[in-house]
Amino acid sequence: MPRRSRTSVAALAAVLALLAPGCTGIASGVRGTPGAAGLRDPYFPKLGNGGYDVGHYGLTLAYDPASGRLDGTAEITARATQDLSAFNLDLAGLTVRGATVDGAPAAYNRAGNELTLRPREELPAGTEFRATVTYSGVPEPITDADGSEEGWLRTPDGAVAVGEPTGSMSWFPGNHHPSDKASYDLVLTLPARVEGLSNGVRTARRTEPDGRVTTVWHTAEPMASYLATVAIGRYETGTATALGAVPVLTAVERPAAAGSAALRKEIPVILARQVKRFGPYPFSAAGAVVTGNESLDYALETQTRPLFPAGSFDRTTFVHEQAHQWFGDSVTPKSWRDIWLNEGFATYAEWLYGEEYEHVPARTRFERAFAQDANWAFPPAAPPAAENLFDPPVYQRGAMVLHKLRETVGDRVFDEILRGWPAKYRHANAGTDDFTAYAESVAGRDLDALWDVWLYGDGKPGKP
Ligand code: ARG
Ligand code: ZN
Repeated sequence: MPRRSRTSVAALAAVLALLAPGCTGIASGVRGTPGAAGLRDPYFPKLGNGGYDVGHYGLTLAYDPASGRLDGTAEITARATQDLSAFNLDLAGLTVRGATVDGAPAAYNRAGNELTLRPREELPAGTEFRATVTYSGVPEPITDADGSEEGWLRTPDGAVAVGEPTGSMSWFPGNHHPSDKASYDLVLTLPARVEGLSNGVRTARRTEPDGRVTTVWHTAEPMASYLATVAIGRYETGTATALGAVPVLTAVERPAAAGSAALRKEIPVILARQVKRFGPYPFSAAGAVVTGNESLDYALETQTRPLFPAGSFDRTTFVHEQAHQWFGDSVTPKSWRDIWLNEGFATYAEWLYGEEYEHVPARTRFERAFAQDANWAFPPAAPPAAENLFDPPVYQRGAMVLHKLRETVGDRVFDEILRGWPAKYRHANAGTDDFTAYAESVAGRDLDALWDVWLYGDGKPGKP
């Protein structure tokens, strides 16, 4: 072997190592690979994207209710979690006009609901970067697996945006899996004859030179994108204060305004009662939006400002959506399989409220739920398909799990769990395993027998 070959063999080996599967090149410095197109959610494998973590969304939106046209810019601040040559955002419909990464134009490509951005320079793991996407078009609603409509829903005077489980991709590009939470700033420009609302605190309102009105909304605490909302229409707004310091902003679309006054006044009282059971309120704003939209047939726990179709703005539904602020919004599921951690808790919050303030024992509600066949279609921890995520077993059997837990560990320990769970995972994500482990740690004992039957068990137990 000639002398110089030793070093060349070593150099060649190093080059070969660089060419390991997935590598896009051997350029000096970073050798990034594209981030994954999805986070492998059991129901929506392509929802969300790998390779980065969003810290903040800055959304600038202008909407014209007459034509339905939305003009948007999304400015996404994120941190690379791998050496990235390209990364995806989820976006359904609309037309992308341009994209930049750290101020430089980025190549982009669309396939289905995946928008791929390829920055000029690769992004080393750990770096913060800023991606902007400029887009426009008439947003299309998304029909869910269960047949309900979500996303950007037009109303006679405006629109409402609801995003559970995947609708937010219809109005802004992002990492639309619940596991990637971020803070938000949203700037909304509208014709002066309509009112616009979103999550969090309204920090500014100004009239543009052309007469349109811009409002600015700030969401400081982490928010999953499915909880982001915009409501545009002929709303009548009202303000109050809850818990001594939390601003409450309610908005009711004109036709429904009169009938909602009493419940709107009661909001601070309900909040105070829930704080007693669930611990400190996790957000710096509160309220409710009641829309006249007839195509929306469910209420949604949009963060800080739950949204209700006019017909479902009643105390029970409000208690449910408000409880989600702790269970779902602050403690957010790791994947959509953990949805019972949202709906089971929010349903149990109704039972608790009924017990404390309306004198219906939770045991009575439990027995009623036990008797209904629809609640036994599948175990709450394992909805069989996307179309079942919001079926009765997730809500009612989810609540039954909590009631059985309460009867097993006793009221005192149960109260501790109810307050401790949202404290431990405040503003974070948690899954079913995290909950069972946490409950066992507080109870100081193994609860497998309970979980096996009530949380994972297929059949209906012999007795309630
Ligand atoms: N989370 C809502 C509730 O509070 C229900 C959302 C239903 N969404 C759907 N796509 N079916 O119960
Ligand atoms: Zn719910």
